[in-house]
Amino acid sequence: MAEKFTIGVLTSGGDAPGMNAAIRAVVRTALANNMDVIGVMHGYEGLVNGEFRAMGARDVGGILQRGGTVLLTSRSKRFMEPAGQRDAIRRMNEAGMDALIVIGGEGSMNGAYALSQQGIKVIGIPGSIDNDIWGTNIAVGTDTAMNTIMEAVDKLRDTASSHQRAFLIETMGRNSGYLAVMAAIVCGAEVALIPEMPITADEVAATVEEAYKRGKTHAIIINAEGSGIGTMELAQRIDDLDVGFKTRMTILGHIQRGGSPTAYDRLLASRMGVKAVEALAEGKHGVMTGLKSKGIDFIPLADVIGNKRKVNMEYLHMAKVLAR
Ligand code: F6P
Repeated sequence: MAEKFTIGVLTSGGDAPGMNAAIRAVVRTALANNMDVIGVMHGYEGLVNGEFRAMGARDVGGILQRGGTVLLTSRSKRFMEPAGQRDAIRRMNEAGMDALIVIGGEGSMNGAYALSQQGIKVIGIPGSIDNDIWGTNIAVGTDTAMNTIMEAVDKLRDTASSHQRAFLIETMGRNSGYLAVMAAIVCGAEVALIPEMPITADEVAATVEEAYKRGKTHAIIINAEGSGIGTMELAQRIDDLDVGFKTRMTILGHIQRGGSPTAYDRLLASRMGVKAVEALAEGKHGVMTGLKSKGIDFIPLADVIGNKRKVNMEYLHMAKVLAR
């Protein structure tokens, strides 16, 4: 009798809400297709160390609505080295793993590609609040993070407006302005600062002063973590220039990465998890699941890591127009 096909699954890099929903979908779809699943703990670090556990249907019960990742995650330096990858492949062979599903961001897809180049059957599922992964309209976790930001900014606007203040809010996005730009639209911010389009503190101050002159009761400024200007420095400069509003600042930080996934993220993660396993069953690998207008598609990992997802600058313009 032929041996069962065994899939490994891991989460890697920064966690993102919906990763658990993806794990659940992978495990249950695999079981439905008569495959076995091995959960790899702590991302690629656990792959190098052989931290494995068998995953049954009940092991993924009650996790659909939970943020974070039950498989835990890490940013593994050892796996970036050829020796680490060699050890990981050896561990996979010893455990009888025939394929691997990697749920994570840009760096995780780099690791997935490296393994696929060495003959391992790998499928990636994009999971990142930053939404900076090429090949998918949106990654698992981004929608939840957006909603977290929106809730926070709505609350901050209430108090900003009552005191006629300018509020600076720092969002995550070390290299990507996606969250900041989209937050500017859905939260009605006067200005968004993003890594892709640097502007000066004085330009921001001028925009805030214009808003004051137009009779606005508050100003909201969204500063992406990687914009090039520190949020505190920016607040100081605006205060120094006396633009009408006094400033206050809030750094949202890791709150954006936690919490129960939205319906959208649960659905996206479930669809991608199902499709990833079905693809493996059909003999497809070396690809990432991506959401496209026609549904879930498969994008070669080589393309995913060879391209940079850009923020659509139209949205930056849109935010500006809508803040009048
Ligand atoms: O998940 C991506 C990200 O949120 C970046 O925007 C941020 O810079 C980074 O993770 C911070 O993660 P950590 O503090 O866990 O290293």
